[in-house]
Amino acid sequence: MYINGVLEQRKDQLIRQSLLSDEFLDFVKRNNIPFETLISYYRCAIMEVETKFKVLNEQYALRYDRNPIESIKSRVKSYDSLLKKIRKKNIPLTLEAIEEQIWDVAGIRVICSFQDDIYLLADCLLQQDDIKLIEIKDYIKNPKPNGYRSLHLIVEIPIFLQDEKRNVKVEVQLRTIAMDSWASLEHKLKYKKNLPAEQLEKISDELKHCADISAELDARMQTVRMDIYKDGNPTKYEDMPLKVPNLPVMPQNPLMGLLGDNQKN
Ligand code: GTP
Ligand code: MG
Repeated sequence: MYINGVLEQRKDQLIRQSLLSDEFLDFVKRNNIPFETLISYYRCAIMEVETKFKVLNEQYALRYDRNPIESIKSRVKSYDSLLKKIRKKNIPLTLEAIEEQIWDVAGIRVICSFQDDIYLLADCLLQQDDIKLIEIKDYIKNPKPNGYRSLHLIVEIPIFLQDEKRNVKVEVQLRTIAMDSWASLEHKLKYKKNLPAEQLEKISDELKHCADISAELDARMQTVRMDIYKDGNPTKYEDMPLKVPNLPVMPQNPLMGLLGDNQKN
């Protein structure tokens, strides 16, 4: 009993002397800086891509009196989920490997008013000459078996630092309001895995059914919009002289040409 007490005391002393020593804390801090720096690059890349979407929204509002973007949500992957992904995918614990192999450290979710707006915005973004498309996954044309729909892009964008230019990857998810609300609810329910198998199957079927209804809702809202703006856009500002060259006028499927080699479902 006495021995155990002494051992505990010695252990505590050892931890304080070694793990909490100034040298060790300094070591942790020193190695933490490169990681924090890398994360700050992702924050910068998010700012760049977010601004691009805000500019497009602004220009579209001015020209067509309508905002294609309802809202934008951004996040840098949390430390916890980054570590989980490193473990799951067996990625080496180096900053280079994180940069090369994890493509969603920076994430932007653009919630659009109508389904066509998703393709319009993606098309406008991908036409910009500082954006490089790395991967595209069209879960709208090819929904996941559970019913999940969204357009996912992995893009690379340069950020300009004090003395260097770095290309940084960003994951962009574009969805309608209906797609987003379905995905949010499904995400919450995904964690309730401790239900009996039979009940889980019923819930999955029900969620798939809800996804089908939400897809139908998007299609009908799109038709209503087309009916209101017969040629795809209101004519109110049509004759206004534009400072920026023409936006594409509601192409039916602007990504058709891009989907080929990059589609990786
Ligand atoms: P990663 O290697 O992690 O990128 O896996 P992946 O490439 O197979 O995933 P994908 O690019 O298809 O999807 C990545 C992100 O899309 C997820 O982190 C979610 O935000 C979203 N997502 C994909 N599938 C679903 C789904 O079934 N439900 C919900 N709620 N979100 C999904
Ligand atoms: Mg992915």
